Amino acid sequence: MFRQLSDRVRFIGVDDLECDLFESQYIVPDGISYNSYLVSDDRTAILDTVDARKGEEWLRNLEEALEGRTPDYLVVHHMEPDHSAMIAELLARYSGLKIVASAKAIQMIPQFFDSISLDGRTMAVKEGDVLDLGSHKLEFIAAPMVHWPEVMVSYDAADGTLYSADAFGKFGALEKCGFYGRDDNDWTCEARRYYFNIVGKYGIQVRTLLGKVLRRNVKSIRPLHGPLLEDNIESYISLYDTWSSYMPETEGVFIACASIHGGTMEVARKLEEILQSKGVRTSLSDICRSDIAENVEDAFRYSRMILAASSYDGGLFTPMHGFLHRLQIKGYSNRTVGLVENGSWAPSAGRVMKEMLGSMKNVNVIEPLVTVRSRMKEHDLEAIRTLAENIMAGYR
Ligand SMILES: Cc1cc2nc3c(=O)[nH]c(=O)nc-3n(C[C@H](O)[C@H](O)[C@H](O)COP(=O)(O)O)c2cc1C
Ligand SMILES: [Fe+2]
Ligand SMILES: [Fe+2]
Repeated sequence: MFRQLSDRVRFIGVDDLECDLFESQYIVPDGISYNSYLVSDDRTAILDTVDARKGEEWLRNLEEALEGRTPDYLVVHHMEPDHSAMIAELLARYSGLKIVASAKAIQMIPQFFDSISLDGRTMAVKEGDVLDLGSHKLEFIAAPMVHWPEVMVSYDAADGTLYSADAFGKFGALEKCGFYGRDDNDWTCEARRYYFNIVGKYGIQVRTLLGKVLRRNVKSIRPLHGPLLEDNIESYISLYDTWSSYMPETEGVFIACASIHGGTMEVARKLEEILQSKGVRTSLSDICRSDIAENVEDAFRYSRMILAASSYDGGLFTPMHGFLHRLQIKGYSNRTVGLVENGSWAPSAGRVMKEMLGSMKNVNVIEPLVTVRSRMKEHDLEAIRTLAENIMAGYR
């Protein structure tokens, strides 16, 4: 099935509710959508394809939406397989079809498809080039590293639409989370998890793109995943502005705990209790038992963080190590962090956490490092209270 978006534009994307792990790492309890669009104007352009998992369904949508017309162009905004899997199939089906994409994207195509012939079948575009389809004209805007290096987005001045590729994407199938975005917590939560885990490392490039986008009169955003955005465009752009700046969105303390036998968790709970009693907003997560992507999201969301972890084989308990490794590669920065370590003979977790945080930009590790031996005792409370006081400094 397709969906009419306007006179000459149709949505032909598909939902994937069976996907167990998106990109082999992100749980998607509400599935994911692979969005794709068809512009049937004087000339006809397909905007991106979908993941192979839903290729057959998408081809049916396309056939229906074409209503007997033959497509002239396939615009490839992004070469990642969740959007490009059906390229070879389209080239084979429609002998007159031309691929319109960045030179880098065109270069990548043969990497994904065996013995594909692109001779005379491609049209390389760069920033500022326009694909004239009739009343609709797609102006290309380079968006390198807004997720991959070959990415372009496009802007159609006819209806003020930004085809934003992975930017402004969200986890969740449209059937589950609605076809149009609601400017609410539901959109923000899963779009934030998506942003920080998938695009987060490239904040600078996202900001460059936002700068270019803001010079256009954007009335709607059509991403490659999740709901189409029509209302309150400024609120989505404003969230992206905050997220891409690496500045916190919410004043509060995210407490991330990795405890082997529960002793460290008692300390984390105590800290939460003290902070809450002072009116501080907190979120405590057992990172051994929760979605690491959700934890990455919360680390970026909140202004402050406390890490509490068991020592492990002369180092750091592995779930915390894995979590900090993710924060490192995703560009965690500009935050205040407090530390709790637990060890039964030679506590070592604090040292490793400090080392890992030390490699991040503008991360301020506050004193004291709370060291607990196996189980929290009366004599630990003073240091715990001091850590709580210090993490709250300047809290509004
Ligand atoms: C496999 C394993 C390795 C450990 N390695 C260390 C260690 O190197 N140094 C240390 O002081 N404690 C070590 N411990 C003890 C843990 O840090 C211990 O679980 C902790 O002191 C109590 O906190 P918890 O109840 O939150 O796990 C280890 C425990 C396990 C199970
Ligand atoms: Fe992507
Ligand atoms: Fe994607």
